[in-house]
Amino acid sequence: MTGQRLAGKRVLVTAAAQGIGRASAIAMAREGATVFATDVNTDLLGTLPEEAGGSVEAFALDARDDASVKTEVARAEPDVLFNCAGFVHHGSVLDATDEEIDFAMDLNLRSMVRTIRAALPGMLERGGGSIINMSSAVGSVIGAPNRFVYGMTKAAVVGLTKSVAVDYITEGIRCNCICPGTVESPSWHARVKALGEKLGNYDEAMAQFVARQPMGRVASPEEIAALVVYLASDESAFTTGHTHIIDGGWSGQ
Ligand SMILES: NC(=O)c1ccc[n+]([C@@H]2O[C@H](COP(=O)([O-])OP(=O)(O)OC[C@H]3O[C@@H](n4cnc5c(N)ncnc54)[C@H](O)[C@@H]3O)[C@@H](O)[C@H]2O)c1
Repeated sequence: MTGQRLAGKRVLVTAAAQGIGRASAIAMAREGATVFATDVNTDLLGTLPEEAGGSVEAFALDARDDASVKTEVARAEPDVLFNCAGFVHHGSVLDATDEEIDFAMDLNLRSMVRTIRAALPGMLERGGGSIINMSSAVGSVIGAPNRFVYGMTKAAVVGLTKSVAVDYITEGIRCNCICPGTVESPSWHARVKALGEKLGNYDEAMAQFVARQPMGRVASPEEIAALVVYLASDESAFTTGHTHIIDGGWSGQ
């Protein structure tokens, strides 16, 4: 699939080395955007420009590092900011350590504050921009077992999104978030493997993850990337401040 739906747009993606971030960076490059693909995993990131084709600059950026986010995001001058970085902790409120909570608050939520602070002044100067934040179906839409830290931080992403959207709605800035169900990605495979080890049965673990999804399958990262392209493009010009649920009917039953 190639097109020009994002021609002329400069896009910055965090966590672009694998999973949804990578698929989205590729999809946006193929729609004519100039893509700044960032991650901490520079080895994987290095293979992205060739796979994507088009205009892609891939470089190391730790979404938890305030100074480099300030410099690098401002340098990229993005019209579209896709905040994709996030981590899934396992466990309940009684299992969660303070370190896990601090880490997730910083990576899943505060990193978005950092990148938005760095990107927004330029967007305002240029009179427009689209900010897309990665939330999850797990959080504000539904609760899932053993996702306390994750659900708490992903729900907060919804509040962050609505707040930014309403403050800049008259200045051409749109801010939306995405709430996917279960998506096939390297970290998801690691979660299935970990559960498999706990249960002593990998197939049973896979069956449990797939059973959450009423379609009987999980999503591909490309299916989520299609929504990212839409929210990045002017096709969604009348859409802001919303949670876009893409969960295979998980929450719709
Ligand atoms: N996979 C799912 O089922 C699912 C569902 C809903 C939401 N999400 C969210 O989508 C996002 C991407 O998840 P995924 O499963 O597609 O990918 P993933 O978890 O497999 O990969 C995450 C990427 O983030 C990068 N990263 C980690 N720390 C970073 C940092 N400090 N700065 C920059 N990059 C960093 C990693 O190097 C890696 O490339 C996450 O926010 C996740 O919570 C995933």
